[in-house]
This record gives sequence, C-alpha cells and structure tokens, in this order.
Amino acid sequence: MDFELSEEHLAVQEAAKDFAQNELLPGVIERDNEQKFDPVLLRKMGELGFLGMMVSPEYGGGGMDTLSYVIAMEELSKVDASASVIMSVNNSLVCWGMETYGTDAQKEKYLTQLAAGKYIGAFCLSEPQAGSDATSQHTTAKEEGDHYLLNGTKNWITNGNSSSVCLVIAHTHREKGHKGINVFIVEKGWEGFSVGKKEDKMGIRASDTHTLMFTDVKVPKENRIGEDGFGFKFAMSTLNGGRIGIAAQALGIASGAFELSLKYAQERKTFGKPISEHQAIQFKLSEMDTRIEAARLLVYKAARLKDQGKDYIKAAAMAKLYASDVAMWVTTEAVQIHGGYGYVREYHVERLMRDAKITQIYEGTSEIQKLVIARELLK
Ligand code: CAA
Ligand code: FAD
Repeated sequence: MDFELSEEHLAVQEAAKDFAQNELLPGVIERDNEQKFDPVLLRKMGELGFLGMMVSPEYGGGGMDTLSYVIAMEELSKVDASASVIMSVNNSLVCWGMETYGTDAQKEKYLTQLAAGKYIGAFCLSEPQAGSDATSQHTTAKEEGDHYLLNGTKNWITNGNSSSVCLVIAHTHREKGHKGINVFIVEKGWEGFSVGKKEDKMGIRASDTHTLMFTDVKVPKENRIGEDGFGFKFAMSTLNGGRIGIAAQALGIASGAFELSLKYAQERKTFGKPISEHQAIQFKLSEMDTRIEAARLLVYKAARLKDQGKDYIKAAAMAKLYASDVAMWVTTEAVQIHGGYGYVREYHVERLMRDAKITQIYEGTSEIQKLVIARELLK
C-alpha cells in the first residue's frame, strides 16, 4: 500500500493546518471553558468545504476521497477536537449516509445544504438504555397514512442543539428485531420535536451534546431512507466509515499533544540542561512518536480500503481501537512531560488529555470495536 501523499493531499493538509492554527487555536481555551462553539467559525468551516469534503460536487461537496478527509480531521483535531467532532458527524455520519442511501429528492433538499454547512446534521441512534446495545432502543415510528408518527428520546446527541437536520433511527416493527428498524430525516422545528438537557462534559466541551425528545412528530414517508427495515443496517454501515473519522480525530489529538511536548522538552531546563536531554524524556518522546506513526498507518489503511471500494469494517474498527488508546496514552505522557504546567489550561495538553477519552467511547466503545474485529475474524 502506497502512503506517499499526492499533491492534492498535501494541499488539503496545508489548508486544514492553516485553518486550525490561525482560526481555531486563538479561542480554543475560552470555547472549552464556556462550552460553546463559535458560529462564525462554524460558518467558515462550511465555506472552506470542511463540512462536506467527501460529498460529490453535484451536491455542492468537495468530491474528495476518505484519505483527504482523515488528513484534514487530523490537522483540526491537533488543535480543537470539538471542531473536529462537528466536522466528523456532519461528513461521515450524516452526509455520507444520505448520499449513499438517500433518494435524489432527499439529496437535493438536504444534502446540498449539509455539504455547504448551511445545515448542520446530527445522527441519533443512542438512547438512555441503548448505547452499545443499539437494537434495544425504545423510540418508535408508527406508520399512519402518508407519514410516520415518531415517539421517543435520544440522548448524547452531538450537534443536538446546533443541527437543523437529524437522522433518527427508530423501531417501526419491534417484533422483527433489527430488521424492523428504520431511519428518518427529521427537521428541527417540526411540531413535537424538542431539544432537552445539554451535557456538561469532561472533554470536547465546545461541542454541544443534548438529549432530543420526539412526541408524535409527523415524519413524511418520503423522509425514510432506504427500503423498509433498512435502518439498522444503515446505522452500522454508516458507523463503519464514522469510525475512520473518529480514529483520525484520536490520531490528531495524539499528534497535537506530541508536537507540544517535543517543543516544550527542548525549551524547559532542569539540572542545567533541556529536559529533552534526559534519557527518560527522550524515551517518552520516542515511544509517543512510534505509537502515533503506527496509528497513522492503521487510519490511512482503513481510509484507503474505503476509497478502493474494498471491505473496511475490520480495518476501521482496528484503527479506532488502536488510535484512541494511543491518544489516551500519548496525552497522559504529554501532561507528564509538561510537569505542573501540563496540569493547567494554558498549556493545552490537559485539554487534549480530556478530549482523548471520548474517542474510546463514542461511535462504539473500545470493547465494541474488539467485538466487531472478533466477529470479522470468526465469520
Ligand atoms: N457493518 C455492517 N453491518 C453490520 C455491522 C457492521 N459493522 N455490524 C452488524 N451488522 C449487521 C449484521 O450483519 C446483521 O445483519 P444480518 O442479520 O442481515 O446478518 C445486523 O447488522 C445485526 O447484527 P448483530 O446481530 O451483530 O447485531 P447486535 O445487536 O449483536 O449488535 C454491534 C452489533 C456491533 C454491537 C452494534 O450494536 C454496535 O455497533 N453497537 C455500537 C453502537 C454505536 O457504535 N453507537 C454509536 C452511536 S453514534 C456516535 O457515537 C456519534 C458520535 O459520538 C460522534
Ligand atoms: P454502555 O453500552 O452501557 O456500555 C457500558 C460499558 O459496558 C462500556 O465499557 C462498554 O464497552 C461495555 N459493554 C457494553 N456491552 C458490552 C459487550 N457486549 N461486551 C463487552 N463490553 C460491553 N450517540 C449517538 O447516537 N449520536 C451521537 O451523536 C453521539 N454523540 C456522543 C457524544 C458524547 C460526548 C458521548 C459521551 C456519547 C455520544 N453518543 C452518541 C453515544 C455513544 O455512542 C455511546 O455512549 C456509546 O456507544 C456507549 O454506549 P453507553 O454509553 O450506553 O454505554
């Protein structure tokens, strides 16, 4: 597998780095403290094409490959993982699912807006009692004439407040198990749709995470994606790609912490020399860089397989499992290298450590990634 980046990939990397360093970095600590993402930055992300990178130009997207997307995800995540989770959900869960399985009319109406960042999307699978065990959800959609009547509660929804369009996964025929699940495009503002509690989180604090409630929401039949009963397969298939995005986010968080640590280790002096001259610190830096490089290869491999139209379920799960552990380990070491300064907000690494943790939990916990890998190995 050739990992030489093309001119186009290098240009994407440069553009993403430029945006991250010049636009995201200046207010990142304040946004984390205030738990708010700046709408002006979100608009810029849309204008620069970060919100619909892989969407076909026919629908206003960038028409780029998955490798370009993960390269951009890494650069943004080095600085601001709240920005990159917004980007990740919009690109790989909402736009990709809609473009791959939606009707022309759905794409015209919604995808064009989502790809341009005029609408922000949310992906609503999890419920209070149904996270890893996704089929045990309680939300129902009852067929009534030309529409479905949607009832239930989704929680932990990224972009829960800022989104205009939600993909909601619900049971239509509970007795059919996962084959009785469907996915619907639901607009904010429809009667009976309300936004609930905002979560006060450990990390990715500028990304809004909310509970969403649906009470007799009328969803037109044309807003169902795919054949009747396709909803669970839709969710699983969309999450396969989503996991590559989160793996890239984890990779970026780790790389960001490593770059800060490498610089700091050469500046900070103890016992008359930079701490980078103490072998204990050198060994940390060596191991951090090695693990990051291994994570990058797994992430790029999963992206390449997806771009080549090959099976990438196992590769995506492996990339997310490994990169998220690397992010957690590297960021913890980064705080250690920074000593007491690492423990305070100003030096960024404590935020990166808090942000790293979520990558082992969402879009399937590490335990679920192992389960996915084992099922692929044994099938
Ligand atoms: N890709 C494609 N199809 C898949 C699949 C995959 N990775 N995993 C399962 N399926 C299919 C199976 O083939 C099966 O279909 P058939 O019956 O036709 O063969 C069907 O789905 C049901 O599969 P299982 O019997 O294996 O289902 P299960 O109930 O045992 O659950 C699971 C499997 C892998 C644990 C699944 O429930 C899962 O992935 N859970 C984690 C949920 C998750 O990742 N949630 C993330 C929410 S979004 C989010 O988190 C966003 C964010 O933070 C930013
Ligand atoms: P549980 O499923 O209750 O798991 C608890 C523990 O048990 C975990 O360690 C888990 O790995 C382990 N476990 C469970 N089952 C097994 C098993 N079979 N074998 C071994 N171990 C097991 N969801 C969405 O739908 N959309 C979103 O946009 C979204 N964004 C999120 C943002 C944040 C900040 C957070 C925290 C969550 C988000 N989620 C979202 C939900 C997320 O996907 C779930 O939290 C995650 O899938 C785990 O589900 P759970 O929290 O119910 O944990």
